[in-house]
Amino acid sequence: MRIGARLVDHHHHHQARTSNGGMGSVAYIGKRTATRKRSCVSRTRMRVMARQRRTALQELFDACRKIFKGPGTVPPPDDVQRLSHILDSMIPEDVGLSAERQFFKTKNEIKEIPGVTCTTIYKCDNFSLCIFFLPPGGVIPLHNHPGMTVFSKLLIGSMHIKSYDWATGRATSSAPSSAPPHLRLATLKADRVLAAPCDSSVLYPTTGGNIHEFTALKPCAILDVLGPPYSKDDGRDCSFYRDYPYTAFPAYDEVAQEKEGLEECYGWLEEIDLPENSHIDGIEYLGPPINIEPVCH
Ligand SMILES: [Fe+2]
Repeated sequence: MRIGARLVDHHHHHQARTSNGGMGSVAYIGKRTATRKRSCVSRTRMRVMARQRRTALQELFDACRKIFKGPGTVPPPDDVQRLSHILDSMIPEDVGLSAERQFFKTKNEIKEIPGVTCTTIYKCDNFSLCIFFLPPGGVIPLHNHPGMTVFSKLLIGSMHIKSYDWATGRATSSAPSSAPPHLRLATLKADRVLAAPCDSSVLYPTTGGNIHEFTALKPCAILDVLGPPYSKDDGRDCSFYRDYPYTAFPAYDEVAQEKEGLEECYGWLEEIDLPENSHIDGIEYLGPPINIEPVCH
């Protein structure tokens, strides 16, 4: 994603810049490591315990490492199910958040309304783990995930989700030739409200709503697993879109009449530059650490 790439490039910069500013707009619950230090459990015993009780985040990370094979690949259904299952049972605390505690400061505490922020827990060539934070009314505009499989888990809050896939087959061939060249027909896949706690969702390179938009109704935290991550150099840059109702172009009435309810299933997408107010700031990840040492079997 253009957003992702920018985030990674400037991650450390942002950490420094926002150490007493933007970063403070997301409040994590106390670091677990700090609590552990105070206990009398020896280091060795702690390691044993850690091995025995792998955290949900560690389980997710280990599964991702096995499942994502890199650019040009899509995990098989069994693996998708496995990952979905892990994500389904994850709770905010698994990434150092709490649904009980407000993680955006109120408007009185900060001078400007907080924008959308993102923290990268981990990123490699095959996959990345990120959390997006949306304040109420915050929007991640319509964007695509070229060649990617993406798992999303709404951990906190509620949001409206709208998603599309590019229309294929009969729909595209029957589209009127007078269609403006910069518009492309897309199939509406979702247009609904999601509220935590809820199951995770998954999108694929060409199905499952690869192009989507999130609008927060309440403060939201969304855990995203991207495989592979955005990479401009590798031809997986993020594009942004504006959508128009199918009926926005009167020339298409004829087709609409032909197929009942067509206007509800389709929309026209126009590629646009990243909207001005849609910049996503990167913030430091302060949740539980993951062990990135290779697992031996
Ligand atoms: Fe996305």
